[in-house]
Amino acid sequence: MKTRITEMLGIEYPIIQGGMAWVAEHNLAAAVSEAGGFGVIGGANAPGEVVRDEIRKARELTKKPFGINVMLLSPHADDVAKVVVEEGIKVVITGAGNPEKYMEMWKSAGIKVIPVVASVAQARRMEKYGADAVVAEGMESGGHIGEETTMTLVPQVVDAVSIPVIAAGGIGDGRGIAAAFMLGAEAVQMGTRFVVADECTVHENYKQRIIKAKDIDSTVTGRSHGHPVRGLRNQMTREYIKLEQEGKSFEELEYLTLGKLREAVQDGDVMNGTVMAGQIAGMISKKQSCKEMIEEMMAEASSLMHWN
Ligand SMILES: Cc1cc2nc3c(=O)[nH]c(=O)nc-3n(C[C@H](O)[C@H](O)[C@H](O)COP(=O)(O)O)c2cc1C
Repeated sequence: MKTRITEMLGIEYPIIQGGMAWVAEHNLAAAVSEAGGFGVIGGANAPGEVVRDEIRKARELTKKPFGINVMLLSPHADDVAKVVVEEGIKVVITGAGNPEKYMEMWKSAGIKVIPVVASVAQARRMEKYGADAVVAEGMESGGHIGEETTMTLVPQVVDAVSIPVIAAGGIGDGRGIAAAFMLGAEAVQMGTRFVVADECTVHENYKQRIIKAKDIDSTVTGRSHGHPVRGLRNQMTREYIKLEQEGKSFEELEYLTLGKLREAVQDGDVMNGTVMAGQIAGMISKKQSCKEMIEEMMAEASSLMHWN
């Protein structure tokens, strides 16, 4: 199964594991790459040296290619942008912002740059700046989201740009992969399903919360100030939404979420912490190794798409 993305990334299967703040560290990324997909370490708000260390640890676990998700809003984005060059990383996926200022440095280092976009206009702009592909991410996704759905966004982005498009948001099995390909995508990026992978080191409570989630269990906080984030409903989201309705300022609300993702991921406090996950959580019912997940999904997608 070959597409422009599998060729560009040097992978067997068109499945990318999304960079996820606090979640996608070297163990998960290396396991996905070892299984034939493309693992991505989430740079999030980590300092450059932490990301360097993660890259080196991943290299001890796999010789296969993996990438780094650079969060452009991070206070350490400049440092992380340099570390990826120094460490010889070949693929950068960017989240939350415009990667233009790093384009020249990355392109001259031979790095493929793949921004995440939430609209046709952003996709066009990224192609103009020299992006090698885009991830078109629908609002079904876990984490920071836009307003378009995967179903509507992917084909419109495919029509608007000539670089390859990766679909993200709400894809959790082989049917989702097949659907994304029918819309014109050449690979998928998945986050929520990989959170419950055996190799993912998040707290067991976080995994169980996803496994037990129903279709309607996710909610969006932060819409009132233009920074929507999808996660699973709990005490913390209820309080946040109540304060949003009372018209609290961005600063007051941000203060409330400080350190909350770490609390859920590392301490397992899934009531008061932020449990970022997408709408597809309702369909995720079992823990598996990355290899089992990827092989199961590819078998299903291949049979639906008559790939073999
Ligand atoms: C816990 C969590 C953290 C995330 N953190 C980031 C991030 O730091 N940067 C980013 O570009 N995307 C982030 N995402 C989005 C994923 O990379 C991916 O695009 C998304 O999860 C795909 O949708 P899905 O969750 O429906 O599979 C995050 C998603 C989750 C679930």
